[in-house]
Amino acid sequence: MDAQSMIKIEDIAHVRFRAPDLVEMRAFLEDFGLTIAESSEDRLVARGAGPAPAIHITERGDPGFAGLAFRAESLSDLERIAAAEGGAVEDLDLPGGGAVVRLSDPDGHRIEVVAGQAESDPIEVPAAQPWNRAGDHQRLRAVKRVAAGPAHVIRLGHAVLNVSNFRASERWYKDRFGFITSDEIQLSPEAALGAFLRCDRGETPTDHHTLFLAQAPSGPGFNHAAFEVADIDDLILGHERLKSAGRHAEWGIGRHILGSQVFDYWRDPWGHTLEHWTDGDLFTATDGAHVASLQELLGVQWGPASPPTMGA
Ligand SMILES: [Fe+2]
Repeated sequence: MDAQSMIKIEDIAHVRFRAPDLVEMRAFLEDFGLTIAESSEDRLVARGAGPAPAIHITERGDPGFAGLAFRAESLSDLERIAAAEGGAVEDLDLPGGGAVVRLSDPDGHRIEVVAGQAESDPIEVPAAQPWNRAGDHQRLRAVKRVAAGPAHVIRLGHAVLNVSNFRASERWYKDRFGFITSDEIQLSPEAALGAFLRCDRGETPTDHHTLFLAQAPSGPGFNHAAFEVADIDDLILGHERLKSAGRHAEWGIGRHILGSQVFDYWRDPWGHTLEHWTDGDLFTATDGAHVASLQELLGVQWGPASPPTMGA
C-alpha cells in the first residue's frame, strides 16, 4: 500500500506547447476539433465542448512541449503542495482564472497544479443517437445522419511523458498526486518500463489513465496528449476531416488493449502527437492494479499495428 500522497488530483487540466506560427497552429487545432477560446499575438488558448475553460495552450516561440497541468480539488490543496515543495501559489493567467503552483518533475518537465478555475458554458454537441446492435435494435423508425466536419473534442483526458527513470518518476507523481497504477508494463518483474496511472477518486469511476509514464529508449520528452471526442462516428468523421486537410496521420483508427479506447493519433505541424479517443475504460480506486506486457501495450484489439515513430 502506498503512503498517503500530498494531495489527490481530480484530472488533467491542460497541456502547453510553443510554436512559431500561431495562425498555422490555429488552423490545425480547428481541423482537430478544438475551439479557440482566446487568440493574441503571443498566445492561443483552445478549449473543448466540455466545461474546462482551457485545455490546449500555445505560446509563440521555438516549437516544443511546454508542460502540463493537473487539477486539484481545492485551493487549500495548492497551499499544501506549495508548502511541501517550497513553491508559491500564484494567479493562473488563463480564461477562467484560478490559481497555480508550478513544479518541475525529475526530468525537468514543467508540471502545474491548478484549482479554482471558473467553468465555461459547455458548447452544444450533436445529441447521442441510438445504436442498432444485432439482436438489440434501439433505433426504430428513425434515420441516422451525422454531419461531416471536425470531431467534437469534449475534454483533455490524459498525457504520456517519456521519462529517464520510470521508478523515480512513478514515486514523484504518486507521492504528490495520489495516482493509482492501472496497468504496469513489465518485461520481467525486475524490469518495469512504465505504467498507466489513474486518479484516486474513491468510488467515483475515473479514466483508466490520466498519466502514462514511459521509460522510452529515446530519453525523456513529450509522448502524446489525448482528447476525448463525442463517440465513434465523431472520431471517424474527425479522421476524415484531418485526412482531407492533409494533416499528418500517426496511428489509427484502432482499439487499444490497455484502456480499451478507440484511438486515432495525429501530429501537429511541429510533430507533437495528439490523440482522439472514445469509449475508454473507467475504474474506481478499489479496482486494482494489473501487470501487462509490452505486446499488450503496443498491440491492438483491431486496427493497424503501431508505427515505429509512435511516442518519439
Ligand atoms: Fe493515449
